[in-house]
Amino acid sequence: MTSANVVKVTERDGALLIEMDNPPVNALGIALRRGLMAAFERLARESALKGAVLTGTGRFFSAGADISEFGKTRENPLLPELIAFLEDLGKPVVAAINGQALGGGLELALGCHYRIAAPAARMGLPEVKLGLLPGAGGTQRLPRLIGVERALAMIVTGEPIDAAEAKTLGLVDDVAEGDLIGAAFRLLEGAVARGVRPPRTRDREEKLAAARADSGLIDRIAEPLLKRQRGLPAPRACVEAVRAAVTLPFEEGLKREVELFAQLVNSPESKAQRHIFFAEREAAKLPDMPADVRPREVNKAVVIGAGTMGGGIAMSFANFGIPVWIIDQDHESLDRGLARIRENYQITVSRGSLAADEMEKRLARIHGTTDWSVLAEGDVVIEAVFEELDLKQRIFRMIDEKARPGALLATNTSTLDVNKIAAATSRPEDVLGMHFFSPANVMRLLEIVRASKTSFDAIATAIAIGRRIGKVPAVVGVCDGFVGNRMLHRRTAQAERLLLEGALPQDVDQAVVAFGFPMGPFAMGDLAGLDVGWRIRKARGTKAPISDALCEAGRFGQKTGAGYYRYEKGSRTPIPDPEVERIIIETSKRLGITRRPISAEEITERMIYPMINEGARILEERIAMRASDIDVIWVYGYGWPVWRGGPMYYADQVGLGQIEARLKHYAETLNDETLRPAALLSRLAAEGKGFSSLPVQPIAI
Ligand code: CAA
Repeated sequence: MTSANVVKVTERDGALLIEMDNPPVNALGIALRRGLMAAFERLARESALKGAVLTGTGRFFSAGADISEFGKTRENPLLPELIAFLEDLGKPVVAAINGQALGGGLELALGCHYRIAAPAARMGLPEVKLGLLPGAGGTQRLPRLIGVERALAMIVTGEPIDAAEAKTLGLVDDVAEGDLIGAAFRLLEGAVARGVRPPRTRDREEKLAAARADSGLIDRIAEPLLKRQRGLPAPRACVEAVRAAVTLPFEEGLKREVELFAQLVNSPESKAQRHIFFAEREAAKLPDMPADVRPREVNKAVVIGAGTMGGGIAMSFANFGIPVWIIDQDHESLDRGLARIRENYQITVSRGSLAADEMEKRLARIHGTTDWSVLAEGDVVIEAVFEELDLKQRIFRMIDEKARPGALLATNTSTLDVNKIAAATSRPEDVLGMHFFSPANVMRLLEIVRASKTSFDAIATAIAIGRRIGKVPAVVGVCDGFVGNRMLHRRTAQAERLLLEGALPQDVDQAVVAFGFPMGPFAMGDLAGLDVGWRIRKARGTKAPISDALCEAGRFGQKTGAGYYRYEKGSRTPIPDPEVERIIIETSKRLGITRRPISAEEITERMIYPMINEGARILEERIAMRASDIDVIWVYGYGWPVWRGGPMYYADQVGLGQIEARLKHYAETLNDETLRPAALLSRLAAEGKGFSSLPVQPIAI
């Protein structure tokens, strides 16, 4: 791509219109930076030109630096130089912010002398989400425009603001209803007519005064913001950079920002977060999908089953403006389900995260019924009933009878064979799994399960629906537990074994939390309820001795005030319980296991490495297309710390040789065949390669 292709420059009444045209998001890669520099240089050179309007084509002003260039040698001009040149031009440049202005895109706008936004524009500095900070002057210029308090909030959380708020804060001079470019040229004309030197953001000091007068202010504002960011380096560096804006002259502040950026861009955390950024976008791309496949149109959804899962799925549709019917077989379950939905919304309203009228709008999109004829209304039908194959097959026969031709038919099963469910219909090409994660209205992962006869356009439709309702879709193949739960199962088995061998629930949970998960497996078990797994085990004739013993003692987790921990009334804080210790020790004894002290290191390895091993088997069997898809599933569905990049990425950082050696060691010392390294893991380890070296593969069908 040449710079002439990505920057369009036209002359209008003695001024330039400079349009960034680098689809899909106007990322500021080298071609765009060169093109902009050439346009700014022309503006400086040609005395007849009085100024310029800078805008973007499409939905974006610019989504910022080209993330794929990070970590490589970047070519000049770099963005900070480009912005410095622009700011010092001596002729006015108006940023006409037509859509999203993010990261370096917003920093470019901050270097302009005036800013005017379309009503739908959004502005933000999301670098922190990639483990970075705004490295093109954003930490120095934004506080000068909107004050330290709001700038810190935007930079440390990475959350964007809309045009109306940007106007209130002084980030933009105006919001243009209607013709943005026309309004931007009028603003430019006014500035030229006034004949003043174009104002530079760097010179504006007045909004820094409060923080300069009160040396504790920054830390007081930063403290609650940092608390939510779990000690990661980027948010802390963001605060330091803003502090530099307050305490140092502009040029020195810029230098400090560059130094901090350089540290972050090479940090393992940021590399992992950038890996996840691209992995998330890859996870829904099928190497064998023909390029001309288009998703079907979806305007209405039907969810079958008003339980916790069905309710959460219905809320996900309603939250994004899609009307949804919930069918349940009896009025009582339906009413209970609808009441729970209302309660859930009400909790969000009472926390201040949702306006009451918005709640009513969302509720108005959810309709409950016991009448199966509404199946004919759905462009997508999602079944979310009990995990029983017979029951699901019966329901799919009914769906087949009543759903309209071309409707997407999805099951939310987490364990059953989607092929067998699809076989109950006369249209298996329309059937797939849409596996949501609890709570379905909150968790972002959506495993889309491709069965052997699922058509490409059905998959494309499920992906499009997932994106529309704010989920992160990852396409996987059929097997027990699919990708996420199949790997989780390995961790659960080791967690239970560790208890039998000598650890206590709090030891295991602490190790997992120290690794970076929000919660350990036992606290998680108590939250989800231990009785569910117990019932499944009883039906399948399998055992988990400690969990079974707890359930037999009526300890089902938080809902009964006791599980692996005890809970005070009304509290969700797990408290270690001597009674649990007694049950565990007694169970070990009964099974003839001699307990031993177990190190935190062993616990961590046994919580993580067996999952990686299962991930390798999943890749061998072509249940997943890429190692990075597995990373996405763990980050978005199970709280894997994003700054560790997902299990397969993490494995590559540790080194597959090391992981193989530890798995072999545990397989032998614990006499546990499930821990034998997978053939793929051993092969890659022998070749000195990582999972990232594997090519993308189609899912086995
Ligand atoms: N650099 C490189 N590629 C980018 C990109 C960026 N900044 N932003 C998006 N893309 C790519 C995506 O990888 C995707 O590529 P494929 O189609 O090949 O998968 C394509 O653009 C479209 O992106 P999305 O699928 O994400 O489209 P969307 O409409 O759902 O979301 C978005 C658009 C909100 C901009 C989202 O892509 C996003 O959040 N991008 C990152 C924004 C960001 O973090 N900017 C800061 C960059 S760092 C920086 O600017 C540092 C600095 O200070 C100099």
